[in-house]
Amino acid sequence: MASDQLKSLLSALDASPDNIQLRKLVTQQAVKEKEWLAVEGQAKVLLQLDPNDTESKALLAEAYFHNGAYSAAIIVLEELIASQDQNINYLKLYCQTLLKDGSAGQARDVYQQILAIDPSFKEDALDREFKVSSAPSTETIEQDFAERTLGMQRPSTNFSHVGGMENVKKEIDLKIIKPFLHPELYKAYGKKAGGGILLYGPPGCGKTHIAKATAGQVNANFLTIGINDILDAWLGNSERNLHQIFEIARKNAPCVLFIDEVDALGANRSEMKGSAGRNVINQFLTELDGVDVDNEGVLILAATNSPWHMDPAFKRPGRFDRMIFVSPPDIKARKSIFEIMLAEKPTKDIDVDKLAKKTPEFSGADIQSMIDISIEGKLELAFETGVPQPIETNDLLKACKKMVASTKEWFTKARNYAIYANDSGLYDDVLKYLKINK
Ligand SMILES: Nc1ncnc2c1ncn2[C@@H]1O[C@H](COP(=O)(O)OP(=O)(O)OP(=O)(O)O)[C@@H](O)[C@H]1O
Ligand SMILES: [Mg+2]
Repeated sequence: MASDQLKSLLSALDASPDNIQLRKLVTQQAVKEKEWLAVEGQAKVLLQLDPNDTESKALLAEAYFHNGAYSAAIIVLEELIASQDQNINYLKLYCQTLLKDGSAGQARDVYQQILAIDPSFKEDALDREFKVSSAPSTETIEQDFAERTLGMQRPSTNFSHVGGMENVKKEIDLKIIKPFLHPELYKAYGKKAGGGILLYGPPGCGKTHIAKATAGQVNANFLTIGINDILDAWLGNSERNLHQIFEIARKNAPCVLFIDEVDALGANRSEMKGSAGRNVINQFLTELDGVDVDNEGVLILAATNSPWHMDPAFKRPGRFDRMIFVSPPDIKARKSIFEIMLAEKPTKDIDVDKLAKKTPEFSGADIQSMIDISIEGKLELAFETGVPQPIETNDLLKACKKMVASTKEWFTKARNYAIYANDSGLYDDVLKYLKINK
């Protein structure tokens, strides 16, 4: 029940509804008395009068929380955090709300963020929830985050495990590996190392595979991030996390940072999430070539299936100024992919030339499935007869008949962009692949 004091303040407010100071006083009194419905109502009016009033916004979030309107509270808190991402009070309430809303995983991330900002942070209920006895250091959190959540690794594959893709290997070597191995030479010519390569093309044709092999080639760590994951998992906090990921890559240099689905950052993407879009893009560009950043030893590769959704700002010099088409493997490349993939399998008299010939438009992933299907067949047989038999050309050809090349679909879309939106010859390689004359 509201106290007499609150009641009399409320009736005074009825008499002069435009008195903002009075309304603030009413709101404060309502908070004191834990009259959260009243707080919610008053905060809403105050925000109508001044949408930038963060104090009222924070009270509205708190009221929503106490009134059980968790998703509404989350929306307001994400807005607040987007503008003040170090505010422990906001983060704490955000964490509590996420917990109530059943998003324990996300709550834990926020909790770790709080600890990263203030290692001495203590809140019994939250500590109990996350079973934290003593606060881990920021470094431990980051390392853990890198290794577990982001799956940082040291790949054992290198360029010799990549079939074909000669032009891609050459570009990566020139633009990424050489500047990394011989920085002094580049400096001597006054050429700034930096920027990255954007790989694009149909699915399954080796973009991720070659990025990983690049790390193996120079004995570097490999850190991969999917932009969609960042946008999903940390709605409203994407900028901060993007920064953290780049920091982790810098700390673990030499490191290949592979950014997958980079088109998700595209400004002209209609399904762009939330209003964070522009901020996230700007943050990303700052991490790439901002004045204060030092990306020495961080080799940046990105990949997309939809390069036409990329924001043009990414393509400027010093950023992703090289865009490379990763085409489906040609006959020679398919031959070497078969050789690489079958190298450690039990085989007999494999005719790779024939296999390569019979698999036009197959992607590396298609070839992988073809081999998997044959192996499954052989296993089944081995269980029946008790004698394992090696894989033969015919097994693979049989598997091939069950499959459709998966790269076709991509080209129906790419074709249109290549013909009608081929600004400065961006998609010349796609046209060449499709044998379309300009
Ligand atoms: N040139 C290649 N040499 C050897 N293996 C390859 C090659 N291309 C693809 N592969 C194999 O095919 C599979 C799919 O490749 P990968 O994941 O790199 O494709 P992708 O281009 O990243 O696809 P997506 O666009 O779907 O992410 C992997 O198992 C990879 O090892
Ligand atoms: Mg990939």
